Formats: sequence, structure tokens, C-alpha cells
Amino acid sequence: MPSISNKGLSMPESPIRKLVPYAEAAKERGIEVIHLNIGQPDIKTPQIALDAVKNNDLEILAYSRTEGSEAYRQKIAKYYAKNDIDVTASQIIVTTGGSEALAFAMNTIADMGDEIIIPEPFYANYNGFATASGLNVVPVTSYIEDNFALPPIEEFEKLITTRTRAILICNPGNPTGYLYSKEEIKKLAAIVKKHDLFLVADEVYREFTYEGREHYSILQEAGLEKHAIVVDSVSKRYSMCGARIGCLVSKNKEVIQTALKFAQARLSPPTYAQIASEAALETPQRYFDAVKEEYVSRRDLLITELNKIEGIKVGNPQGAFYCIVELPIKNADKFAQWLLESFNTNGATVMVAPAAGFYATEGLGLNQVRIAYVLEKEEIKKAVHILGEALKVYND
Ligand SMILES: Cc1ncc(COP(=O)(O)O)c(C=O)c1O
Repeated sequence: MPSISNKGLSMPESPIRKLVPYAEAAKERGIEVIHLNIGQPDIKTPQIALDAVKNNDLEILAYSRTEGSEAYRQKIAKYYAKNDIDVTASQIIVTTGGSEALAFAMNTIADMGDEIIIPEPFYANYNGFATASGLNVVPVTSYIEDNFALPPIEEFEKLITTRTRAILICNPGNPTGYLYSKEEIKKLAAIVKKHDLFLVADEVYREFTYEGREHYSILQEAGLEKHAIVVDSVSKRYSMCGARIGCLVSKNKEVIQTALKFAQARLSPPTYAQIASEAALETPQRYFDAVKEEYVSRRDLLITELNKIEGIKVGNPQGAFYCIVELPIKNADKFAQWLLESFNTNGATVMVAPAAGFYATEGLGLNQVRIAYVLEKEEIKKAVHILGEALKVYND
């Protein structure tokens, strides 16, 4: 048989999806599986976005411009202006999800064998995008005891080599829910300027900040124009994960020109989904207010209920809709599998995402799981109860 590429063989499997066969088998046995493992919100997509597609009278579903439709990019620029971010349509490339923006960013700023520093735990797919682009991820560890705050700047400096091209952050963080402060962004700005690196910020959860905390974008930081690249997405903002629309934003002309060449190879982002995403920008503020209120109450309930379980450690997420939970067990992979294969309470069990896959450092996160609070409160309460019952009997 012809051989598979080394690159293909070294592509990491998604740590979130690898337990799916066990969940499917549990469902076939008639067990209800409550999904705490994935970030698919149950919040309704704004009607205005769905209607824009339904009521459209397009006769040819044509390609759009490579960088995305002019009208849509103009409106995205206005959205950023409302958020105190001053960018023009020409500084935005519409992509097929934030995922494609991540791939374009990595390919634009780094060559095979170059390094990118990322605070861990991080969104597990950064590993996949880095592998596909031939980059090495260099992790700098953040800790649950510090609520996953930015690691000290000296820790970053220790890791910078001649091959380092960028620092990548996720703000607010998946899987930690940590929201970087303005001071932390300023520290990162100083370091990337000092060492002439790019700063890539994945801001797909920018809208999800709680208790009146404000998101501070790297695009707001003066003097970072040549360094800053933002990855954004409509997936979570408007509960439009299936639209597959995101964008890459940078004030650095060379970055945009180069990313555009990668974009040209895939011709254009999806046309219908851009129509939906453009309409979604008209979503009234009350939609976001209601969504935020819902997430805050889900988070509060989740943290309160988790803290009732003995031996559990959990941070205080200030944004996004995830948290890392440390459990009184040795191996979360085995525990998560056991939950699906061998445990249920009144016919129900839970699916969690083992956290080791969110770390690049071998051996970290083994006793941690990521929980997404994208379910209704009754379900969250039931799920945490099941988790507590499971921990009473689990023995590793
Ligand atoms: C941190 C982060 N970045 C990027 C993405 C990619 O999202 P999408 O490609 O749907 O825009 C996700 C999806 O869960 C995410 O959590």
C-alpha cells in the first residue's frame, strides 16, 4: 500500500472526539449521555440571520470575493468600531470559521520547524493546526491555583529562541475561561515588541465576558500594529457554529497580503453563510445581554455544585463557557471512558473532555477534565450530581 505522510501520521487526534464511540455505545444500551464535553451552545441562532438565507432570492450560488464580500467586511469593521477597535475592511479576510483563520495565521508567520509559544492548557486544535503547518508548539504552563492567569513574562523569555515566531493566546480562554487583563496584554505587547515576534490572539469568545469585565483586544494596543493578528468567528457569538464563518484581522499589510494568497488557493468563503453572518451583525444588544445572563447563571450553578463535591478543584472562569476541573483521580482518560462504559445513575451518565489533550507538556492535566456549560441549568445540576456519585465509587 502507498504510505501515508509523516505529517499525516503525526496529526493529533481530537481529545474531545476520541471518546465518541464509547458515548455512542452507551446510547445504544439505552443510557442517557449528558454532554459536558463539547462547546456546541444550545442557544438559538438569531432569527434575523436564518431569515436572511431563507428569504434570499439568489439564482446562482456563486463564489464570493476571496477576502469575503465587500459589504460584509465593511459591516465587520463597523462592529469592531463599536467595540473600540479601529480597523478597515481591507484589514479583514473572511475565512471558513476561526479554524481557517488560525491555519492562515500560522502559515503566514512561520516556516517548517519554527516555534510558537502558547500558554497551556490551550484549545487542543492549536496542536493540529501547528502540525499541519510544520510548526512546533512550545508551551508555557499556567496553573489552576492561579486561576490560569498569564504565566510570568520571564517564563516566556526563557523559551524564546531564534526559531520563535509568535506568541498565541486565547482570550477569553478555551478551556480555562480566563480573561486576560489590559495589564497582561500590555506585558505581552512589550515582549513581542522587544523580540520582534507576532502576537496572535484568538478572540472568538470576546463577547462572553462576565460581571461587567471588559475584553481588551490586542488590536486596541497602540504600537502593536505590525505584530497583532486576531482570529475571530461567528460560531459562538451568534450560536452559528455550522455557518463556518470567521475572520483574520491585522493592520500589518504584509500579513494580510500573504494570508490572502493562502485564501486564494481555496477561492472563497461560503456565500450563503456570509449572508447569514452579515445579517447576524444586526442582532440587537438584548440578545447578547440575555445570552450572557444565561451563561453567568449556568456558570454560577456549575461552580457551586462542583464545589460541593469533595476533593474537587475548580477555577473561576470570567469568560467563554468552559472550565477546567481537577478531580480526585489519577487518570481522567480512563475515568471518562469508565463513565461511559461502566457507570450510570438512574440510566444516565456524563461525558467530559479529559484535559491532558489541552496541554502540550506530557504528564500535565492527567487528573483534570474540561467542562462546557452549554446546557440548561437542570441538565447541569443533574450532570454534576452524576459526576459526584461516580466519584464516590470510582477507584483507580
Ligand atoms: C478557542 C477556539 N478557537 C477557534 C475555534 C474554531 O471555531 P470555528 O472554526 O467554528 O470558528 C474554536 C471552536 O470551538 C475555539 O474554541
